[in-house]
Amino acid sequence: MIKLAPSILSADFANLQRDIELVEKNGADYIHIDVMDGQFVPNITLGPNVVKAIRPITKLPLDVHLMITQPENYIHAFAEAGADIIGVHAEATPHIHRAIQMILNENVKAEIVINPGTPVAAIQHVLSMCDQVLVMTVNPGFGGQSFIEETVAKIKELAQLKEKNGYHYDIEVDGGIVPKTARICLEAGANVFVAGSYIYDADSPADQIKALKEVL
Ligand code: DX5
Ligand code: ZN
Repeated sequence: MIKLAPSILSADFANLQRDIELVEKNGADYIHIDVMDGQFVPNITLGPNVVKAIRPITKLPLDVHLMITQPENYIHAFAEAGADIIGVHAEATPHIHRAIQMILNENVKAEIVINPGTPVAAIQHVLSMCDQVLVMTVNPGFGGQSFIEETVAKIKELAQLKEKNGYHYDIEVDGGIVPKTARICLEAGANVFVAGSYIYDADSPADQIKALKEVL
């Protein structure tokens, strides 16, 4: 099942409701929410209070990507705020297995995320528990960066492991996604596509969504 997850990182924060309704109306499947703490990544965005404010304005699942150190400390708060999927970075805690368990215990879908420099081998022992695996296709922290080609091999590896072991995770990609790179990731085995600047930095986000959907 192919899904499109617009990232509100590139939306107008003074008009979040308008920008979320715009992508929902035009066929988005998830709302991707980037949480940054200025520690794990060199940028600061938003916290559980904003997720809570967004929850009632859309029916779409909220795909919450935590780019924060010690994510364990905030899992409950994001679950309570209304997250449907919570993603934690393998690099953000020495206790990634516990962090995934904590998400599942909240009855929220659990996602593991790896940076471009992190191998799939680093997460192999938690893959059976995960509902989604996010392969970062840029270094996290900012929207509008260029797709890193070397990450495609990891998408293929995860698709093979899924097939071989009967795992149930979706494979998500995030960073530098435009129609051309979406197509490359699709062919490698990804099925959930995050796009921020491609959708929101354009005159017509509706046309951009249409262009992405055409190649997916
Ligand atoms: C980057 C974030 C992304 C970001 C993607 O750290 O995780 O979700 O919004 O932005 P684009 O699509 O512009 O690369
Ligand atoms: Zn993200």
